[in-house]
Order: sequence, then structure tokens, then C-alpha cells
Amino acid sequence: MTQPFQGVQEGSMAQSFKPFYANFSPQLGGDGKEIKCYYVSTVVNAVSDIDVQPKRARKAPVSSSIKKSSEEFKSNKDRPWDVFGDKRLKEKKNGYTHVSLFSGVGGLDLGFRAAGFRTVWANDIDPDACETFRENLGEIEEGDIRNIKFPKLDQQLDVLSAGFPCQPFSNAGSRRGVDDSRGDLFNYALDAVKALKPKVVLFENVRGLLSAKIAKKFLIEEILRQLHNEGYDCQLKLVDASNHRVAQRRLRLLIVGVQRDSDLGPFRYPQEKHKAGLTIGETILNIPVDLPNQNELMQLNPQAIMLGLMVPEGGSWKDIPYDKLPERLKYISRNMEKYRWPKFYARFHRNDIAGTVTAAFKPENAGVWHPIESRVFSVREIARIQSFPDWFVFGGRNIKSKYQQIGNAVPPRLAYEVALEIVNVLEGHKPRTLSDFLKEKRPLRPSDKAIHYEP
Ligand SMILES: C[S@@+](CC[C@H](N)C(=O)[O-])C[C@H]1O[C@@H](n2cnc3c(N)ncnc32)[C@H](O)[C@@H]1O
Repeated sequence: MTQPFQGVQEGSMAQSFKPFYANFSPQLGGDGKEIKCYYVSTVVNAVSDIDVQPKRARKAPVSSSIKKSSEEFKSNKDRPWDVFGDKRLKEKKNGYTHVSLFSGVGGLDLGFRAAGFRTVWANDIDPDACETFRENLGEIEEGDIRNIKFPKLDQQLDVLSAGFPCQPFSNAGSRRGVDDSRGDLFNYALDAVKALKPKVVLFENVRGLLSAKIAKKFLIEEILRQLHNEGYDCQLKLVDASNHRVAQRRLRLLIVGVQRDSDLGPFRYPQEKHKAGLTIGETILNIPVDLPNQNELMQLNPQAIMLGLMVPEGGSWKDIPYDKLPERLKYISRNMEKYRWPKFYARFHRNDIAGTVTAAFKPENAGVWHPIESRVFSVREIARIQSFPDWFVFGGRNIKSKYQQIGNAVPPRLAYEVALEIVNVLEGHKPRTLSDFLKEKRPLRPSDKAIHYEP
């Protein structure tokens, strides 16, 4: 057997991890003896003689939309996190006001701050998320929203945002909806709207909210009805974060309500942008080893590591020989239709855009594997995939919690793009009408998407 230590380059990331010892049973291709492993490329060396070398990487799946816009990107580099600068972002003193419920680490708040908003009150129940929020953004009230009093404000609030917990409605969870103890929290978001009467409401959630039911009715209808009765004209849209300069395919439902009969402008969802510069390679492969949270990796059990190692770049569990699969996965592979063709152990290609970063960070359920190293993504890498800037540091009890905090967050860049549109609403920007265009005496172009046709 090759020396397990081979391949640890001096100064490489491997050196900063503690080695661990694992027994790989014959079913996993080992000989039952304990071997020393690192979480990075050494693991491949450590087990290379026991026939689990990953297959060759698949061909790079560069999509035409990524290729097409790469020239545009080179000339006008706009990395997802650039808008947040390279150090802690100060709040604008006279910015528009924002109350943030279910704030988590403040992914949404960061985006709003960059667009000129001032978060006057924020709340979350999770002490770890609150620690991270305080470290990077400032004050937050820690506690259960069910027991907390909403603040009294001296002037009308501009925006209230609430990303109530999505696990009850999420496909990645058990989908117990309103029967989950967290499934009724939307009521507190609605209570806050009633108490604070913001000019604009922004609710964020997963797609599963669209099919969740309460007392045999669709929950989304109930939420929209209550917002309507409170005087809000609402729109909702499923938005893919990768269309808004986030290096991740992440579908989220955005509900925006604007106070009716006011001098506010109408809300428009941000226009979709190009995807150049959003591949996994461009997002994480240049990260210096000494960045905060870069040396933090989730510890996996030896079986998960072995399975992950057998997956080539761009592959998934389908590349693992059947006889090396654990019994449970063997069973699923024989009943694919029943399990809806799961893509376990996906290892995205470096030229592809990352899949959704989830709070659970399970090695089999999401694309958590580094494309070219034999390990999962570090905390900093998934923070980048979520568009957090490198100065935003994640704290809390342990690494699992940090993954969870990031997986829960709204990608700050998506929040920023939406916040800019909300500024237009608050400034009362009306859409340009057909007569505005005609006055300009130029031909209409298909790109004139913002046009509002008058009756
Ligand atoms: C989907 S995350 C929100 C992410 C956040 N909006 C962001 O931009 O990063 C939902 C948050 O709700 C919080 N939460 C869950 N139950 C709560 C409760 N009873 N009271 C207050 N916060 C709660 C969780 O701790 C979690 O941070």
C-alpha cells in the first residue's frame, strides 16, 4: 500500500487538517487495516492501492449561456460578492429603514445594506446565527418570535422582510408543512405586517410553499389574502439565484407586497443577468488557504468518504460500482422510479454552476463535494457559492452549525438585486409608458422590456 502521507504538499491545505484514522472494510475496497487519512487529496493516495481510484472526470459541461457571456465577464468583471466590498460594510445613516424577521446570519440584510438600507430591528432564535449576525452586521434581538414584542418605530417603516423557516415546506425536509411546529411561523410574519404597516413587504421561501396546505386550502392563498386585506398589492415569483449573479442554482419564492393607494412605484422583479464567471471553478478554486473559515470541513464517516472518493468530477453515485454500494443504496438503485431517480453523491464539474447549498449538508443529498479534491466544500467555499464576501466570518458552536447557517441564508447578492428594485418602488419610480417611448422618437426594441403598455 502507498504511504498514506504521500501527496500532502508542504503548505497545502492538507497540512492544516488533523489526520484521522479509518478502517475500510473489504466491501469498501479496504483490507480491514487502519489507515491514516486526510480530508484532502491524500485520501486518494491513502486508498489508491485498494482499487477505488475515481474514474476519469467527465467532459466539462460548459453550457452555451455561460460560454457566450464569458467575454462580457472578462471585460467587466462582476464577481457575485464584489458589491459588498472588501471590508465590513457600514450602514447608511439616513438609509431606508428595514425590519428583518427570521434574519439568520443576515444574508438578506447584507444585500439590503449594500443597496442603502438600514436594518433598524432584526430577530432570530438561533444563538449561533445571532453571533454571526452581530459579528458582521450589528445588533440583533435573540429569541423566539412567538415571545417577542415588535419594536415601536418613530416613522413609517419602509421594508419588512421575513424568510420564515422553509424546512416544513422543503423537498429536502419531511414536508410536514403547517403540522411541523415551525409551520405556523408565517402567522407571526403577518402579525408583524399588521403591527408595523411597512410600505413594502418581502417574504422569501422555498418552492414547496406553493403546494403547502392549511385547513384544505393552499397556504399561499391564505398569505396573499391576508396581505391583500392589509392593503398590499402582491406579486410572487420563483426566482433562480443563478440568474441574478449568484454562483448557485437555487430556486426561491419571492413574495413582494406594495402598499396600495400610495405614491409608491410598482415593484418589478430584477431582470435576469448573464451567468459568466459563476462556475464552481471561478468561485472557489483561487481561495487562499488562510481565509477565515477556509480550513473548516464537515467531518464525514469513513463510508461517506469512500463513496465520495469513487465519484469522478461531474459524476454521481451512478459511477460507483454496484458491489461497492451500501445495502440501502443498492436497494434504491434497483427501485429508482419509486425513489424518483435520486442524484446521490453528486460531484459537480468545476465548469458547472453549483447546486443548491442546503442547511443539512448531507454528503448524499446535495452537491457538497469539491470538484477536484477528495473532500467536501469548506465553510468558506460554500459561503462564496452563496455570494457572501470573504470578510463575512461565520461563528457559532461548531462546523455543522456554520454549514447550517450558510445553507439557511438568502444569497446576499440576490437580496441586493431585489433591494435595488425596492428602492425604485420607494422612490416612486413609475414605469416608462408607451407615450414616454414615443416622445423619444426612436423605434421600439424587443429589449425595451420595462415598457408598460397603456390601455
Ligand atoms: C430560512 S432562515 C432565514 C434566513 C435569513 N433570512 C437570511 O437571509 O440569511 C430561517 C430562520 O428562522 C429562524 N427561526 C426559526 N424559528 C424561529 C422562531 N421561532 N423565532 C425566530 N426565529 C426563528 C431560524 O433560526 C433561521 O435562521
